[in-house]
Amino acid sequence: MDGNGRWAASRRLPRIAGHREGARAVRRTIEAAIQSGVAWLTIYAFSSENWRRPAGEVLDLTGLLRHYLKNELAELKDNGVRLRVIGNRSRFDHDIQRDLAAAESETSANFRLNLTVALSYGSRDEIVGTARKLAEAVRDGLLDPALIDEERFSRALATTGIPDPDLVIRTSGEQRLSNFLLWQAAYAELVFLDVLWPDFAAEHFGAALAEYARRERRFGARPG
Ligand code: IPE
Ligand code: MG
Repeated sequence: MDGNGRWAASRRLPRIAGHREGARAVRRTIEAAIQSGVAWLTIYAFSSENWRRPAGEVLDLTGLLRHYLKNELAELKDNGVRLRVIGNRSRFDHDIQRDLAAAESETSANFRLNLTVALSYGSRDEIVGTARKLAEAVRDGLLDPALIDEERFSRALATTGIPDPDLVIRTSGEQRLSNFLLWQAAYAELVFLDVLWPDFAAEHFGAALAEYARRERRFGARPG
């Protein structure tokens, strides 16, 4: 999700207005995913690098998260959404950590849409943490290094149990992954849209799905 600040600037509004509208776009996207029969959706809401933004903006973003958790949980439940969070949640205030854990457990039996929200998430951070965890298991005599393969490594990542993405959509015209699911997106189709995130709607989601359907996926194999 990118372009909240530019959306606000183009309307001479404060950045928080763009973030608020961005939260509405998240709601629309969840609905669009459900309508399209997409069962797995991951939203990159806050990166580990976003902590370096001015303190006021970080406060606005965490405030919005707090508000969203309080106000959207019932809706998520009604829509059969299962929420998971990946990222370093220990950096958030305790009440947010508590509400995240509650939202995850209260939606854990839902299966219509598996929604993963990446919060204080960075892919390199995740990969390094995984390497450390496996190294500790080896040190403690619990794991034979010869058994560490791609499958074993994947299962130790934060996204364990979540399928690798088939499609990654980035808005606002930037063409970068910006430390998002670097391992998991190895074979993902990348779609870059010129729309600013607060303007993102079902039609853009549909256009990205249509673009995905046009692509020929070979996973490194020769064309058949
Ligand atoms: C993305 O919009 C929202 C978050 C990082 C939470 P930006 O805030 O990056 O918007 P631009 O890139 O300044 O337009
Ligand atoms: Mg940005």
